[in-house]
Amino acid sequence: MSLILGIESSCDETAAALVTSDRRILAHRLAGQAAAHAPYGGVVPEIAARAHVEILPRLIEESLAEAGVSLGDVDGIAATAGPGLIGGVMVGLVTAKGLALAGGKPLVAVNHLEGHALSPMLADPDLAFPYLLLLVSGGHCQLLLVKGVGDYRRLATTIDDAAGEAFDKTAKLLGLGQPGGPAVEAAAQAGDSGAVPLPRPLVGSGEPHFSFAGLKSAVLRAKESGRHADADIAASFQQAVVDCLVDRTRLALAAADEASALVVAGGVAANQRIRSALQALATDHGLLFVAPPLWLCTDNAAMIGWAGALRYEAGLTDPLDAPARARWPLDPEAERARGAGVKA
Ligand code: KG4
Ligand code: ZN
Repeated sequence: MSLILGIESSCDETAAALVTSDRRILAHRLAGQAAAHAPYGGVVPEIAARAHVEILPRLIEESLAEAGVSLGDVDGIAATAGPGLIGGVMVGLVTAKGLALAGGKPLVAVNHLEGHALSPMLADPDLAFPYLLLLVSGGHCQLLLVKGVGDYRRLATTIDDAAGEAFDKTAKLLGLGQPGGPAVEAAAQAGDSGAVPLPRPLVGSGEPHFSFAGLKSAVLRAKESGRHADADIAASFQQAVVDCLVDRTRLALAAADEASALVVAGGVAANQRIRSALQALATDHGLLFVAPPLWLCTDNAAMIGWAGALRYEAGLTDPLDAPARARWPLDPEAERARGAGVKA
C-alpha cells in the first residue's frame, strides 16, 4: 500500500489530497476562485495562477493535518502537469517538485485527463478496465476507452465547444448566472423540451466527434426571435445536448465492444437528464453504469493523488525536469478532429 500527496491547479480550483493505492481518500481540500474571476465573466489565467500561489501551501498543510501524516510518511508527490492554464499548472508542479526534492520523494507528473479518467474507480470498486468514459466538463468533451493505467484510446472529442461551455454560453444568452449548467437545468424544469426546434449537430453521422457551436447559434436565434419563453429555450437546449451525448456515446460503444462499463465524469455529469439518459443507454447495452459523486467528477486533487498512486505502483514516476504542458493529449495516437482539435 502506498500513500500519495496529490496536487491540482490546472484551472480555477486549487486542491490537495492524500490518497492510498487501496482507494482510501485520507484527506482532500479544495478552494474555488469563482469570486476572483466573477467580474470578468470567465477564468482569467493570471489571476488563477496568482491565487494558486497564495492558497496551495495552506491546503497541503491542512490535508496532511487532516490525514494525521507528515511529509515523511508520503511515498510520492503527484501533481497535474497539464493540460491546463500553464501558469496554474506551473504553480502546482513546481510546488510538487520542491516537496519531492526536500523530502527525497519521487515525483509523479499526472495528466489531468488521466485523473478524470481513473477517478471513477475511487467511487465504485466493481469498476474494472476496460471501460468507456464520457468526460464532459467546461473544458473537455471526449469519449475515452480506458484500457489500463497509461493506456487510453480517444474515440471522440469536440470539434468546437465543450458541452459545459455550451451550457455556460446558453446561460449567458438567457441572462442566467454562471456557472451556466445548473442555471440552465433549473430554468429547463419549467419549460417544454419540444417547444423550440434546435439542431443536433453530427447526430446520426458516422464521424464520431461532438459539435456544439451550431446549437449555441441556434439558441441565440431562438432568443432573438422573441417568440419563445426562456424556460422553453432552456429545456429544448438541454434536450438537444442529451440527444447529442447519447447518440455519440452509442456510436462509441459500437466501436468499443470490449468495454464492461459506461462511466460519466466532469461537471456536466451533474445534470440529471444527462445522467438518466446515459444510465438508460448503459442498461440497453447490459453495461455497468458509474456516475461518481459530483465532487469527484469535477476538478479535485483526490483524482490526481489516485492517478499518482496507480502510476507510482506501476513504477511510472518522473524526473524533476518533467515539463509543464498546456496541451497534453491522453492518446497521442488519436487523429486530430477536424476543427483543429481545439480542446486537449
Ligand atoms: O468539471 P468542471 O467543474 O470544470 C471544468 O470545466 O474542468 O465542469 C464545469 C462545467 C461548467 O461548464 C458547468 O456549467 C457545467 O460543468 N455544469 C453543468 C451542470 N453543473 C455544472 N452542466 C449541465 N448541468 C449541470 N447541472
Ligand atoms: Zn477537469
